[in-house]
Amino acid sequence: MAKNSVQLVEVGLRDGLQNEMQPLAVKERIEFAEKLIEAGLRRIELGAFVREDRVPQMAGSEQITTNILQKYGRKIKGSVLVPNEIGMLAALQTPVKDVAVFASCSESFSRKNINCSIEESFSRFENIFRLAKKNRIKVRGYLSTCFACPYEGNVSSKKVVELARRLYKMGCYEISIGDTIGVATPGEVKKLFKQLKKVIPVKNLAGHFHDTRGMAVANIYAAFQEGVRVFDTSLGGLGGCPYAPGSAGNVATEDAVYLLDGLGVKTGISIEKLVEIHHWAEEKMKKELPSRVGRIGRLNPLGKVSGPAIAL
Ligand code: HMG
Ligand code: MG
Repeated sequence: MAKNSVQLVEVGLRDGLQNEMQPLAVKERIEFAEKLIEAGLRRIELGAFVREDRVPQMAGSEQITTNILQKYGRKIKGSVLVPNEIGMLAALQTPVKDVAVFASCSESFSRKNINCSIEESFSRFENIFRLAKKNRIKVRGYLSTCFACPYEGNVSSKKVVELARRLYKMGCYEISIGDTIGVATPGEVKKLFKQLKKVIPVKNLAGHFHDTRGMAVANIYAAFQEGVRVFDTSLGGLGGCPYAPGSAGNVATEDAVYLLDGLGVKTGISIEKLVEIHHWAEEKMKKELPSRVGRIGRLNPLGKVSGPAIAL
């Protein structure tokens, strides 16, 4: 990856929609993915192979993944979330070549989210890795509750570093560090990534910041300053985790692109197209989405560039 560029992993179709009351039909989710690709997104999480009775919003992930990957082939890197061997076997019925496993840094969140202990979740990953190797599939790793747990409170950074290293050693090509409930502040983000970089090359780390307290953009900037060049974002700021009550969605893709454009960092993503998708998604979701950049765009309603250029 070029030094002055960042990859955004669009998680709106998974992390975004999994926690929305208004479900989107398979046809609409395919349209959503197509619009994101047209806007320049190249890494897109297309769905999750989890229990449909627990996360009904993810039903139909197989059809979406197959449809998009058959249409766009190698133009994009589409990935899906898999919690265990059953999910992995379902993913293998699609053309997907990139899956993501997910573990937690706190026992209570692990139990609520995936119904097993942290240790059991790692043993489930062994079967996933075996199948991945056999089928030449890349595995990404998410680590949840890296700053705090909704049930246990503070999480020690030592634990986060230990588990991130374990995922890396198992073979995850990238470890996404999750602020699941959106509590982190930039100073904490810098501190944690400084520790992580001692055991995992920074090119193999990503930031996954939920925007519950409005700190996610600042946290991206803090991690960027530590050399992180991959961030997970969700169009409009959609979503959250069904097992992290009260938590907001991921940082909005529009907000991240606005920040990075301003820094002169390349993403290959058109903010104007994201704004169009924002309005499309608001109609589909029948509600206002959190991203203010998405609502107003780069230009203010009078068609002038907003920000200091006109404020002075
Ligand atoms: P379990 O209940 O422990 O599974 O589920 P089990 O092995 O005991 O099996 C029970 C039944 O579930 C069986 O069916 C299995 O076949 C079935 P039965 O025999 O009773 O008819 N089953 C499955 N069905 C479909 N797909 C599967 C699957 N596995 C078993 N993969 C499981 C374990 C993890 C599947 C379940 O607890 C689950 O689906 N949880 C939902 C997890 C989830 O989607 N959470 C949100 C995503 S994670 C997240 O948002 C955080 C992240 O964004 C990072 C961050 O922000 O921190 C990634
Ligand atoms: Mg998340």
